[in-house]
Amino acid sequence: MKFGLCVIGCGAFARTFAREMRSELADIDLYFASRDARRAANFATLLGGKDSFGSYESAAADPRVDAVYICTPHHLHLAHARLAADAGKHILLEKPLARTEAEAQSIIAVAAAGGVTLMVAENCRFMPPVRAVKEMADDGRLGELRLFQLHEQFPFNLTGWRSDAELNGGGAFIDGGIHKASIMAYLAGSPSEIYAAAIPSAIPPQSDNQKEAEDGVVVMLRYAPHSPSLKTGMVGIINHSWSAGPHAPRPWASLAGSAASAVFDLGNCWIDTIDPSGRQRQWLNHGNDPWGIAAMVREFRQSIQEARPPTMTGEEGARDVALVQAAYASIRKAAPVPFPSPCHSGRSPLSF
Ligand SMILES: NC(=O)c1ccc[n+]([C@@H]2O[C@H](COP(=O)([O-])OP(=O)(O)OC[C@H]3O[C@@H](n4cnc5c(N)ncnc54)[C@H](OP(=O)(O)O)[C@@H]3O)[C@@H](O)[C@H]2O)c1
Repeated sequence: MKFGLCVIGCGAFARTFAREMRSELADIDLYFASRDARRAANFATLLGGKDSFGSYESAAADPRVDAVYICTPHHLHLAHARLAADAGKHILLEKPLARTEAEAQSIIAVAAAGGVTLMVAENCRFMPPVRAVKEMADDGRLGELRLFQLHEQFPFNLTGWRSDAELNGGGAFIDGGIHKASIMAYLAGSPSEIYAAAIPSAIPPQSDNQKEAEDGVVVMLRYAPHSPSLKTGMVGIINHSWSAGPHAPRPWASLAGSAASAVFDLGNCWIDTIDPSGRQRQWLNHGNDPWGIAAMVREFRQSIQEARPPTMTGEEGARDVALVQAAYASIRKAAPVPFPSPCHSGRSPLSF
């Protein structure tokens, strides 16, 4: 029988998600739910949906829906996860899992109480170059890892709920930067110390009572020696800015080890390996899924069918949120903070 997956919230990224899901429609019935019945119906018509719902509640109550993909603003992730879990629907929840680690733990708890699978929709985990570099790091081809860099400098306007630090959970770093934190965690594990600085903001205040979101952060992560590939420890740098200046090339990453460096883009399907013999480009098969979205949903579905935890569990999502909060704590203190840090758990997401 086909798997019924309902998109909750018909906004900008839900459209991208649904487009990338077209290759999967032989196995998945895609439904759309919006607070506006006409918008949901339009999405269903344009994007191959089986049916649509004029409320999230009616989607959660429908027996054809096995699972939901929650693609709503960050401050609503907990409420929408609770709605799904109470109705017994499995949950694929957009990143960030939540605005704070405490909120993330509440989401994990409601999913557990409802007996449903919770997976964070961290598509970067499924991008072909990220997977390939993970293999290279794990099998020792890069040698001892020393420096990991992830850079994004893209002009993206934080508007609406995104420009409100309270609703967003911070700003650009918890929004787009968390992908980089997650990639770093996937490839190198957990850092021991974090030092972050906010890039001067280009966001004009929108109203007197609205708290501005940050729109660019540089984070340095220190890794203590903790595995054969990290025998000497490592330093990571994440530079995530949505307004520092004119558009730079696509987000790029570089993982440098004692034997070789791997350089890749997020969204392209090649890896350059640089070693003493020179630079070699390896093209990767992306199967029309360069963003890893279809692969992510296949993993979600399989984990439910096989009754096992998915790749990118709620706990992993909570750890990424904790890392973002530690970076914000470091910005507030203008000093490095240890990680995991006791200071971030209950605190309001961003108050510089
Ligand atoms: N993986 C990625 O690369 C990626 C990229 C972008 C965004 N995202 C994530 O996707 C999620 C949604 O982001 P987005 O860019 O799609 O946001 P968006 O364009 O603002 O869409 C959010 C949708 O949530 C629904 N919603 C419910 N209550 C709302 C409220 N009070 N205010 C505003 N919207 C409300 C709305 O859908 P209805 O009106 O149809 O109910 C709205 O269209 C976030 O978690 C974000 O971080 C992920």
